[in-house]
Amino acid sequence: MVLYLIGLGLSSAKDVTLKGLEAVKKCDSVYLEDYTSKLNCTVSELEKQYGKKIILADREMVEKKADEILDKAKDAKVAFLVVGDVFSATTHADVYMRAKEKNIEIRIIHNTSILTAVGIVGLELYKYGKTTSMPFFEKGFEPETPYDVIKMNQKNGLHTLVLLDIKKDLNRLMTVNQAIEQLLLIDDRKKEGVFTPDLKIVGCARLGSDDFLIKYGTAKELNEIDFGEPLHCLVVPGKLHFVEEAMLGLWK
Ligand SMILES: C[S@@+](CC[C@H](N)C(=O)[O-])C[C@H]1O[C@@H](n2cnc3c(N)ncnc32)[C@H](O)[C@@H]1O
Repeated sequence: MVLYLIGLGLSSAKDVTLKGLEAVKKCDSVYLEDYTSKLNCTVSELEKQYGKKIILADREMVEKKADEILDKAKDAKVAFLVVGDVFSATTHADVYMRAKEKNIEIRIIHNTSILTAVGIVGLELYKYGKTTSMPFFEKGFEPETPYDVIKMNQKNGLHTLVLLDIKKDLNRLMTVNQAIEQLLLIDDRKKEGVFTPDLKIVGCARLGSDDFLIKYGTAKELNEIDFGEPLHCLVVPGKLHFVEEAMLGLWK
């Protein structure tokens, strides 16, 4: 019948839009994409708000067993909930295309994303370069891509948003401190002076929530701060306009 792709925003059960709430309330099945991000509330708070049982969809379900969700949507109203915005950072284009192929009617209900909420830091969103993701280092897996992306953006005077790894199954959510340590480690190895202890950066936690925290300082200073509950992300400023500089001053 219809597949609703609904963004939930970034913080609480109340961040869903009115349009999203109305849609979810009339659905027969409700899935929550549960591996690329996280709200600051529990699933039972969401269930209470929607008056619906929520089925958690892990990566395997979304990537390999999407047909199960889509086939249901042929004869029923199905909601696929995504924390943040549906097509931001993690695109879910695959779900969209597969639903189109099956001739399922799709409705999209947008919401805010980390890609726009980071505007509060005060750096022009138009002046960000490529966004990058920092994975947890493991033995034999220490990718330097985030470092290289920062380097490329710096060369072009652009800001860099660094999203941090989430391993939901292991209950590991990367902190600002862990990301700083990994970037310093790469700099130690490559010795290109891109991410040094003196580099001025911005650490962000729980953007969109009332208790959000933003701190601007050197990597060394920020590494000593406890940012509290994740989710966290990092911003590496590029060339600064004086208004951007003034806004960053608020977070010193
Ligand atoms: C893959 S992105 C998910 C994007 C999501 N669909 C959206 O539109 O915001 C998840 C990463 O973004 C960052 N992030 C998401 N929400 C955040 C928040 N409220 N505060 C700080 N960082 C956040 C974290 O680094 C997290 O690991």
